[in-house]
Amino acid sequence: MNKIFRTKHLTPDTHGHSGLRQCLTAFDLTLLGVGAIIGTGIFVLTGIAAATQSGPAVVLSFIVSGIACTFAALSYAELSSSVGGCGSAYGYSYAAFGEIFAWIIGWDLILEYGVAVAAVANGWSGYFGKVLGLMGFAIPEMWTKAPSTGGYVNLPAVGIVFLLMVLLIIGVKESARTNAIAVVIKLATIAVFLAVAVFNIHPENWSPFMPFGWFGHGEDGRPIGVLAGASLVFFAYVGFDAVSTAAEEASNPKRDLPIGIIGSLLFCTIIYIVVSGLLTGMVSYTSLNVSYPVAYALEQVGVRWASALVATGAFMGLTTVMLVLYYGLTRILFAMGRDGLLPPYLGHVNPRTRTPVRVIAICGVIIMVIAGFIPLGELAELVNIGTLAAFVMVCIGVIVLRRTRPDMHRPFVTPWSPLFPLLGALSCGALMAFLPVHTWERFVIWLVIGMVIYFGYSVRHSRLAAA
Ligand code: ALA
Repeated sequence: MNKIFRTKHLTPDTHGHSGLRQCLTAFDLTLLGVGAIIGTGIFVLTGIAAATQSGPAVVLSFIVSGIACTFAALSYAELSSSVGGCGSAYGYSYAAFGEIFAWIIGWDLILEYGVAVAAVANGWSGYFGKVLGLMGFAIPEMWTKAPSTGGYVNLPAVGIVFLLMVLLIIGVKESARTNAIAVVIKLATIAVFLAVAVFNIHPENWSPFMPFGWFGHGEDGRPIGVLAGASLVFFAYVGFDAVSTAAEEASNPKRDLPIGIIGSLLFCTIIYIVVSGLLTGMVSYTSLNVSYPVAYALEQVGVRWASALVATGAFMGLTTVMLVLYYGLTRILFAMGRDGLLPPYLGHVNPRTRTPVRVIAICGVIIMVIAGFIPLGELAELVNIGTLAAFVMVCIGVIVLRRTRPDMHRPFVTPWSPLFPLLGALSCGALMAFLPVHTWERFVIWLVIGMVIYFGYSVRHSRLAAA
């Protein structure tokens, strides 16, 4: 029984020397964070959350969610600078709580990143089809839809995952450079939106400000209001944690990971607050329940060229989100393979490219199949629940490790501990509570499958078991 609670002692290989290339700077890491964070959340979900959950008070939803994420980010920063290891929350849980909790969180993160990439690939495909259509090269519909929605396969979704797979195999620095270019383009388009939006505000659109209140129930029993909106737009913040999966590829992880995690989160939080505030000031929130709300608002105020530009930004945004989350997924699986909880075959680094080619290729094929054949839109909420669970564990991990390992060197220290980590765990736990029941059901099913694999395989093959 004790086996499943064994904790991992921090050995040199949890701090690098893994064969991965240590080349990412603080700037690269911050851009990776911005790459993973800004995407569907702001370009799509803002409108849906405003129209169906929060009204113009969606800006408050972003603030509530942003505060919960800031607490979690501070905890991530402390553990990434002290525990290290590319397994992120999985590795921290291994050190703080023991193997079974590490497995649960690792399994959880696989869900978070894997589903997010496949789900965003579906959204990407929609934008791609639209852009090609505008250029006069419309793709026949059956090649852009999964079989259950009347098509053969979602070919653009498969294609983009394939391209990202090749890029990630080529090298981490090359991936980071591509990410940086795409991030600059998406930020430029957001800047254009802001410049246009400030001259097209109609303050009457901000009234009523909070039509659904803080918390209530809709006709179908689903939670609505600012807090339910916060659990929905939380998706917009998912991704800053992916920065912590780059620990073994950062040139100076102890210093640069906290900068990358907190820097990218704060930057994006400010953007979200400003964009959502302006968006609901441009058009009535009731009209924003569309899949392209930012471009829609610009069209409504008569700025058609800007709308095409924003579509480009969204396109770039979705691409970088997929790239960085796919990257994070491979590093977590790599760490779990290296620890023996998954087949060690996955914990191999190709000596030429210095990337975990096997794990990148296997994930690529699985995500291509999922993205091509299953329409995943509504599964985005699963990503939220998985991520929030990881955040809760990381916050509690800070408190536990302060007690069990008081001597550990902590280059970054979460201020006001245990208050801030506690608030982080409570606020992320509360956001989980506002998610719909069916999301919880799916989450529990995923965890049960995980437990079967853990007790059927991992517990006997763990490297700690052999030690
Ligand atoms: N934060 C990412 C997005 O909004 C997952 O697309």
